[in-house]
Amino acid sequence: MSGLAAVSNKSEQLKMTDCQGDGAGDMTPMDLYEKLTSQGETVRTLKTEKAAKADIDAAVQLLLKLKVDYKQVTGQDYKTGCPPSESAISQDNGPAAAADGDDMVDPWNVSTSSAKGVDYDKLIVRFGSSKIDQELVDRIESVSGQKAHRFLRRGIFFSHRDMHQVLDAYEKNKSFYLYTGRGPSSEAMHVGHLIPFIFTKWLQDTFDIPLVIQLTDDEKYLWKDLSLEDCHRYAVENAKDIIACGFNVNKTFIFSDLDYMGASPDFYRNVVKIQKHVTFNQVKGIFGFGDSDCIGKIAFPAIQAAPSFSNSFPQIFKGRKDVQCLIPCAIDQDPYFRMTRDVAPRIGYPKPALLHSTFFPALQGAQTKMSASDANSSIFLTDTPKQIKNKVNKHAFSGGKDTVEEHRKYGGNPDVDVSFMYLTFFLEDDEQLEKIRQDYASGALLTGELKKSLIETLQPIITAHQERRKQVTEETVKQFMTPRPLDFNF
Ligand code: TRP
Repeated sequence: MSGLAAVSNKSEQLKMTDCQGDGAGDMTPMDLYEKLTSQGETVRTLKTEKAAKADIDAAVQLLLKLKVDYKQVTGQDYKTGCPPSESAISQDNGPAAAADGDDMVDPWNVSTSSAKGVDYDKLIVRFGSSKIDQELVDRIESVSGQKAHRFLRRGIFFSHRDMHQVLDAYEKNKSFYLYTGRGPSSEAMHVGHLIPFIFTKWLQDTFDIPLVIQLTDDEKYLWKDLSLEDCHRYAVENAKDIIACGFNVNKTFIFSDLDYMGASPDFYRNVVKIQKHVTFNQVKGIFGFGDSDCIGKIAFPAIQAAPSFSNSFPQIFKGRKDVQCLIPCAIDQDPYFRMTRDVAPRIGYPKPALLHSTFFPALQGAQTKMSASDANSSIFLTDTPKQIKNKVNKHAFSGGKDTVEEHRKYGGNPDVDVSFMYLTFFLEDDEQLEKIRQDYASGALLTGELKKSLIETLQPIITAHQERRKQVTEETVKQFMTPRPLDFNF
């Protein structure tokens, strides 16, 4: 199933409670296509149910109007089962958007035709979030008294919702908590998976606040061809890699949905509350679910939403329902939390705030993110120094020129160079990074030399991770995953 609808700003523009809006003005071809498809279904249902003629006529009128809009926007006739082509999308967005008009970002897919990667400024507009600008970075520094993490300094965490509110409250001594998660779809985690956890650990240390980490083994069972046992086993294995990022056991609760849903009446009560306040129409609009998706998928978003509310964890927050939640995550998870923020006030809870990261590019280029199912696209946390070296040398897409001569003359392009991109994630020293960028762009630094810097940066990071992971015993995992009070007084 494609969750394409999630890229649209439909849910923001039309408000989830008002899905009847029929203005086509701001809709993308894909928005219109999905609206048309669902309107077609509505007409068919009304007809089979022998609804009142006036109702059927009204629904048909809307369908016809949408078809006219669709033709206007795409230059193509609407055909059931044939989403608009990429050229239609580019045309619609005008020349400025042509290069990135086909960015696709949802919880299951990330792709773009641009070697520089997804256009994140556009995504901010599309998702209706706010840019993390220099002012916010400065404010985080002044409120926390810490130098901003390199992910903030370099725009890797680039978008947010309500972060100023979180800081306002924190300045008035109102605490908050962190929530993040991982879908355990295999044992193999790659470096890209660590990004949200490295940053979350920094936030936890900087603000000294509780952290809950959801392992959605249920989600992976519903979406993938895996057994329940395997998903649960992956959850526990992945927890070891997460723990190896250095989280403090007295401040962190990690849970598997398969375990915690049944063990916590308060968590399940929140799931049900959320489920009651979101319609099928809404999740269809947000996630692109269709009639043949299993009902587990349709109900799942409520389970990812529930940890955003503090009373899902009475052992930590003593039953309080008003502790503000902050969610660091990759931008593709935003659809879940747009839904959560829409429901929150209707069930009497604060809206969670968010910090969004860019994607970690695949070795082959920023057109897509690193994927654990493609071994050549990824550097795994289990790779040996030698494997790291070979993968970077062999597969990392280069922005360098074909010959040394040309490279010296014209310089390389760091904007599309994957080794350089990885260095922006992992090389701590700002000056050194800037020097590499300049030297590469001028041609003074060759591709082989750039790759060598990356290899030498990554190898010790991965080796250190492996050593920390070795220290994580079954007993440690059990401690982190046992519901218990944390070292905070709420
Ligand atoms: N759905 C996410 C995944 O597949 C896992 C997840 C659950 C998550 N809750 C989260 C990620 C909160 C970020 C924040 O990886």
